[in-house]
Amino acid sequence: MLNGTALEALTRRPLPFLRSAWPWRSLAYLLASLLPGAAVALVVAGSLALAEAVGGTLPRQVIAAFAGFAVLVPVVPLVAWFERRRLALVDAGPPPAGGRVREAGLALVTVLALWWIDLLMVGVAVGGPLVLMSSPVVQPEATPGVAAVAVVAGALLTPVAAYTVTAWAGARGVMVRALLDSPDARLGAVVRSRARLVDAYELERRRIERDLHDGAQQRLVSLSVTLGLAGLDLPEDSPAGRLVRQAHGEAKQALAELRELIRGVHSPVLTDRGLVAAVRDVAGRSPVPIDLDLDDLGRLPAPVEVTAYYVVSEALTNLAKHSLATRGTIAGRLTGDTLVLEIRDDGRGGADPDQGTGLTGLADRLEVVGGRLSVSSPIGGPTSIRVEIPCA
Ligand SMILES: Nc1ncnc2c1ncn2[C@@H]1O[C@H](COP(=O)(O)OP(=O)(O)OP(=O)(O)O)[C@@H](O)[C@H]1O
Ligand SMILES: [Mg+2]
Repeated sequence: MLNGTALEALTRRPLPFLRSAWPWRSLAYLLASLLPGAAVALVVAGSLALAEAVGGTLPRQVIAAFAGFAVLVPVVPLVAWFERRRLALVDAGPPPAGGRVREAGLALVTVLALWWIDLLMVGVAVGGPLVLMSSPVVQPEATPGVAAVAVVAGALLTPVAAYTVTAWAGARGVMVRALLDSPDARLGAVVRSRARLVDAYELERRRIERDLHDGAQQRLVSLSVTLGLAGLDLPEDSPAGRLVRQAHGEAKQALAELRELIRGVHSPVLTDRGLVAAVRDVAGRSPVPIDLDLDDLGRLPAPVEVTAYYVVSEALTNLAKHSLATRGTIAGRLTGDTLVLEIRDDGRGGADPDQGTGLTGLADRLEVVGGRLSVSSPIGGPTSIRVEIPCA
């Protein structure tokens, strides 16, 4: 199973590359240009013959020749189809997207230029070593010394030919893909792969949350209960009693910390009661007082709720960590199909996404759901983080 492209194969170490199928595939890719080449030659010859047959004045002949070239028009989709199929020889990626105009452009470039450049490359790169190596046969009059030198030179040039052929075939493949794939298609693929990453992360996050909740938390609860019971049975002032009660206190603290951790990994309020309740919950735990101005948003699509929740959590963490604010506000409403959230504080301003990973992480998350993040935070304040997330 081949991976990557012929161009990428060139970066391998020489022996693995020369032993791989890439040089042969590249050669086959370039030699396939014989077909469009033959078609063009036929059409040109046919057009000239037509002009000859029509005879008469020069303009008449030129018009006849161009009429002959018109035969090429229906051939365009065929050439584009052929280019797509042969691309698989040097590019193991998914088939390119295409589109009528792009395919017509590619067919035109193939017919006018690419086919003869391909054949020229093969002729020079492969023909040279072949002629040298066959010199004892084609030039029997040459002295044995000269013939031997020619054969050795031809053999030494063969790996060079493999590199030349693969390099041109690979570069041509990249060009064909760039011509066929629209920038939108490439962007679509990138966004899809990022969305997949975020989905995978979401799944993993939920698994960790469940494991913590069902495993470690339950054990800590029963440990804490057992220690509490043991503490009751031991006399108040015995050393063992003091130690057990201390252990009970620590177990309760570990449980509280674990609960906090689970809440950080995932807000159960968000899953159960939706965004507004979850925002109230985080705002209620903020050390800086937060005023809420939230419309009744109802339940929104899960990715929108999770993204919005992360925005609020990060903005409130930043507010508490960096802003020196005395108050904050969270406003949320639906404008048409778009969720608009704004988190403001009256702090010192100067938020800068380049200084950390929090704000840039939010921008990445928003991009995946097609949303937008704007940060306004002049030095001296105030700071406002505004996000728009399409819900449709
Ligand atoms: N509300 C705010 N008020 C003032 N400064 C802020 C505010 N929010 C962020 N900043 C500044 O912008 C910088 C970048 O914030 P960001 O959230 O990207 O990173 P961070 O909070 O420093 O680190 P982390 O990666 O843990 O989030 C912060 O270091 C801080 O100096
Ligand atoms: Mg931060």
